Amino acid sequence: MPCSVVVCGFFGDTGKGKVISHLALKDKLDITARAGVGPNAGHTVLIGGRKYGLRMLPSAFMQKKCRLLIGPGVLVNPEILLKEMKLTESMSRVGVDPQCAIIEARHIEADKVGHLAKDIRTTGTGTGPCNAERALRKVRLAREVRELKDYLTDVPLEVNTAIDSGKQVLIEGTQGTYLSLFHGTYPYVTSKDVTASAACSDVGVGPTKVDDVIIVFKAFTTRVGAGPLPNEISLEEAEKRGWTEYGTVTGRPRRASPFNVELAKRAVMLNGATQAAVTKVDVLFPECKGATSYSKLSRDAKAFIENIEKEIKIPVTLIGTGPDALEMADRRRS
Ligand code: IMP
Ligand code: MG
Repeated sequence: MPCSVVVCGFFGDTGKGKVISHLALKDKLDITARAGVGPNAGHTVLIGGRKYGLRMLPSAFMQKKCRLLIGPGVLVNPEILLKEMKLTESMSRVGVDPQCAIIEARHIEADKVGHLAKDIRTTGTGTGPCNAERALRKVRLAREVRELKDYLTDVPLEVNTAIDSGKQVLIEGTQGTYLSLFHGTYPYVTSKDVTASAACSDVGVGPTKVDDVIIVFKAFTTRVGAGPLPNEISLEEAEKRGWTEYGTVTGRPRRASPFNVELAKRAVMLNGATQAAVTKVDVLFPECKGATSYSKLSRDAKAFIENIEKEIKIPVTLIGTGPDALEMADRRRS
């Protein structure tokens, strides 16, 4: 901090929502700016026993003083955004950049048929067709949408002004490094780059303004949709190990493999990561459930984390020990 970027180092669904909600509360964030593709993302936040599956709104909403912004690079589905604003009672704190492109019904229809649905197995939320139209310079922007009128704001200006005055700013990436259009497993990828540099560009922040890039990994690797997943285990085996998960947006079961060190190392490089979070450590080591300090982790869990650190050569500062925002061993302050 003051300006951090949070990205995922695998295929999405590593727990960015959880990590960001933890940071929102612990670091008393002033501003979060959502980067990434659009409502194809599903960020899960569990706070005080209540679960939120967010697709458009930044995951820091529970920090009541935090401005919740959506950068111009992000595609907006106004219906989803307005619903999430109501659900979280955050209307007065939301800002949408006038240059955000708008997802229309025809984008969603096009995403549910043919190559995209059958071969790539997209989320069907219209993001690929909308980005294609944006590249053709035919798409409608947020500034033309009446329902968004009250929320329009110059997001790059707000974010940079906040950084320059020393406020706590977080840039929220979505998806994951290996779903990047440039760096992922093409063609089984999303419709734009989603590494840290792209996240900065999405919200209009230059690379010299960033202090930390926090890369999020999960204790095992998962992937939804088509595309390669090295060392993939069967659904039955995943079930036996307690690794089965279902997509936040699509409800599809996630494919699983053990933690992939080689992918992790390359993701650290591609994102220029300075520190890492590893979530769901309690799934591998149930004795660690709910631990909030590193010293409370078991010997096996510590060895697991230290081995990852040795390989990726950056510190693992945040260790997820349960789904709640506060179930986190935070080593940044120990
Ligand atoms: P699209 O982004 O909906 O076009 O989907 C392209 C690929 O990225 C598919 O394999 C999706 O399952 C995957 N994908 C897109 N967004 C996410 C996400 O937020 N988490 C996990 N997978 C995603
Ligand atoms: Mg997700």
